[in-house]
Amino acid sequence: MANSKILLLLCLFAFSFSRALAFEPSPIQDFCVADKTSSARVNGMVCKDPKLASENDFFFPGLHIPGNTSNTQGSKVTPVNVVQIPGLNTLGISLVRIDYAPWGMNPPHTHPRATEILTVLEGTLEVGFVTSNPDNILIRKILQKGDVFVFPVGLIHYQRNIGHVNAVAIAALSSQNPGAITIANAVFGSKPDIGVEVLTKAFQLDKGVVQFLQTKF
Ligand SMILES: *[C@@H]1O[C@H](CO)[C@@H](O)[C@H](O)[C@H]1NC(C)=O
Repeated sequence: MANSKILLLLCLFAFSFSRALAFEPSPIQDFCVADKTSSARVNGMVCKDPKLASENDFFFPGLHIPGNTSNTQGSKVTPVNVVQIPGLNTLGISLVRIDYAPWGMNPPHTHPRATEILTVLEGTLEVGFVTSNPDNILIRKILQKGDVFVFPVGLIHYQRNIGHVNAVAIAALSSQNPGAITIANAVFGSKPDIGVEVLTKAFQLDKGVVQFLQTKF
């Protein structure tokens, strides 16, 4: 009996500990406005003196301004994270605006540190994410204005404008610094290149195709 209680306590302890490691740690102060001038390296950014914090440390203007979608993908992400709002430091949340030209796409990518919740303000989007190995199931949905969709942390996802007009979305992310890994760019555009022999085998492609893809990214 006593043994099973100890076991239960150990399990609870292990559970709370793994939560603390898997997500951004809870703040133990009101805020920690990032001091961008500090050269100290910590998990997050160093706090500036809270007495020096002001309203502009918690403020970003301009998310009404459309991003420029004149690029190969036909989309533009405007981030609002700890880089734009130093007061977001340690708070585990951020925002993006995404603009899509007609048939534009936010290509397959993942956020290593954040779940994303997206809402469509204008237009019609096809969105989807793929579950992890071994199933790799595509969870896909067509979204209209006002619809909300979730991309779980770490999973590869995309959005595509399937309308004839511009589309706009706002998404919140559960990290002050979610990070993004765009699959094609990371795999075919790494610096230096991943060896052709690795990519030909991994993707079952001819060497020439791999080299062509590497020139694209
Ligand atoms: C949008 O980006 C394109 C390509 O970089 C550039 O030529 C164009 O001037 C930009 N448009 C605006 C309004 O900034």
